[in-house]
Amino acid sequence: MMNTSIDFRSVRDAAEQRRSIRAYEPVPIPREDMEEILDVVRRAPSAFNVQPWRFVVVETPELKERLAAAAFNQRQVHSAPAVIVLYTDMKSSLESLDSVVHPGLGPEQQEATQRTIRNMFAKQSEDERETWAQGQGYIALGYLLLAAEARGYRTSPMAGFDPAAVKALLDLPENARIPALVAIGRGAEEGFPQHRLPLESIVRVA
Ligand SMILES: Cc1cc2nc3c(=O)[nH]c(=O)nc-3n(C[C@H](O)[C@H](O)[C@H](O)COP(=O)(O)O)c2cc1C
Repeated sequence: MMNTSIDFRSVRDAAEQRRSIRAYEPVPIPREDMEEILDVVRRAPSAFNVQPWRFVVVETPELKERLAAAAFNQRQVHSAPAVIVLYTDMKSSLESLDSVVHPGLGPEQQEATQRTIRNMFAKQSEDERETWAQGQGYIALGYLLLAAEARGYRTSPMAGFDPAAVKALLDLPENARIPALVAIGRGAEEGFPQHRLPLESIVRVA
């Protein structure tokens, strides 16, 4: 089925316009806007449709200050009205596979699919499984950055934090991985113009 109703320009505009912003207006993000953004993010694809991502939206000023301390006091964590902690949890995902296997499959095939997925991950160590989940989490990160931009918010993705401290602060499971923290809000600085490799240096047609 061809879909011609989506305007490619708006996707391209969001991608072209987005840049990391590290200073924000002190204006809270309305719940509806946050929900709209995260409702786009949850539609991201993942291998086997496992959807191992989870989100904690940190808005409480006191908690956000403690999160900043766990993120090397990066100024965007202090400044943004919200910081989204994107984590992945393969243990919880494997415990609830029945909620992600497609209902369009008959009951037997649903059961078989769950078995296949369980068997595959049973051969892996916890570390391998969680690393796999973290990779899926970066797909959600891409969706999040683009969706926020399209909704009028600026973002700053961060890998610079102490995962153990963030886990302890937010009571995340021990096995969880944290692909990124994302500061989000109305921007209060210009940021750096985008600087990207040209297409011809990263793509070849074979
Ligand atoms: C996964 C990830 C982790 C990052 N971690 C940090 C970080 O800890 N601190 C920071 O200031 N920027 C961080 N960045 C921002 C990058 O430096 C930035 O995206 C890159 O330089 C491109 O600039 P732009 O986002 O303005 O287009 C991170 C970006 C990504 C995607």
